[in-house]
Amino acid sequence: MTTVNADRSHTDAPSGAASADVLLRIRNLSMRFQLSSGFLGLTGRTSFHAVREVNLSIRRGETLGLVGESGCGKTTLGRCVLRAYKPTHGELAYRREDGTVVDLARLGRGELRPYRREIRTVFQDPNSSLNPRMTLLQIVGEPLLVNDLARGAELRDRVAEVLRLVGLRPEYMRRYPHAFSGGERQRIGIARALVTRPRLVVADEAVSALDVSVRSQILNLLEDLQEQLGLTYLFVSHDLSVIRHLCDRVAVMYLGRIVEEGATDDLFTRPRHPYTESLLRALPLPDPRLRSTKKRVPLRGEVPDPASPPPGCTFHPRCPYAQGRCATDEPALIPLGRSAAARCHYADSLQLAGVTDS
Ligand SMILES: Nc1ncnc2c1ncn2[C@@H]1O[C@H](COP(=O)(O)OP(=O)(O)O)[C@@H](O)[C@H]1O
Ligand code: SF4
Ligand SMILES: [Mg+2]
Repeated sequence: MTTVNADRSHTDAPSGAASADVLLRIRNLSMRFQLSSGFLGLTGRTSFHAVREVNLSIRRGETLGLVGESGCGKTTLGRCVLRAYKPTHGELAYRREDGTVVDLARLGRGELRPYRREIRTVFQDPNSSLNPRMTLLQIVGEPLLVNDLARGAELRDRVAEVLRLVGLRPEYMRRYPHAFSGGERQRIGIARALVTRPRLVVADEAVSALDVSVRSQILNLLEDLQEQLGLTYLFVSHDLSVIRHLCDRVAVMYLGRIVEEGATDDLFTRPRHPYTESLLRALPLPDPRLRSTKKRVPLRGEVPDPASPPPGCTFHPRCPYAQGRCATDEPALIPLGRSAAARCHYADSLQLAGVTDS
């Protein structure tokens, strides 16, 4: 089994303060996909990085938000954490319950088995992720069977317990998903994630498919469950208003890299990377207590093709603050205080606008 030194320091991840609080330290993690080109893929194969050299730490009991436009690599990073993908490079240093640390990135299928119970996911779309031919008992109980954790009466009791926990009546366990509303189906999805009593939950766009009215109920449920069960969340979303509601800290992703990281309130009130500012400026603010010092304008241009990222700072073709060197020199992640950082040459000097409580 591959073990790693949990307290090894590294310089480019501010959240990576060496401490027993860190449940998962993602270190220099990259994921490359093969691309076929030409007729039937016969003329050549190229590869590109969907995730590139990501350093992030997730502390026990916190919610870390991962935000960025569609296609920037959020789902790929989440799937690496879940070990649905085997990362091409890097470490996933996971602190087990007994305090020892294991590198999940290097484990084989069999060695990963014990961690399948501990690291679980909530799927985005409760309509397509629930098998319509399975009852609630089968859907929610399946991870217990697959992971050899319970069967028979014990399995039924565990399913009843978790259904109650997510606000569903255990009497419904013989029903099929079509009998439930969108919000209830997402509760079923959450029950399926929690039935194995996980330690880390990766929620990827878990409320994006829901109506606004149901969304806040599910967010509140996730918050309550976290407190009750001491869960740690990696919460992936393209939606900054949802991130603001739920997350303690936020990592902003652009073209496979983390470009800014910080405590949620700090990042929203004082963004340090022009990309974060652009996302905030495009944010509709349904909460009248929030205001921005700048006019709401959509983010200009499209996300470039990750298979041929722009040179220098990959954000430079869209950045309103770009200078000559931005097109040639790739910026490093500059630490800004104890737990924040931004990947911009001018992170120290730019005065960017955020949203504030009025
Ligand atoms: N299995 C895959 N094979 C090849 N390319 C992929 C695969 N999954 C995602 N991609 C590509 O990787 C990039 C990042 O995708 P993804 O992680 O889904 O981003 P996000 O979740 O932020 O929208 C996109 O360009 C996407 O097309
Ligand atoms: S390095 Fe230059 S292009 Fe990149 S975000 Fe900073 S100012 Fe903009
Ligand atoms: Mg995604």
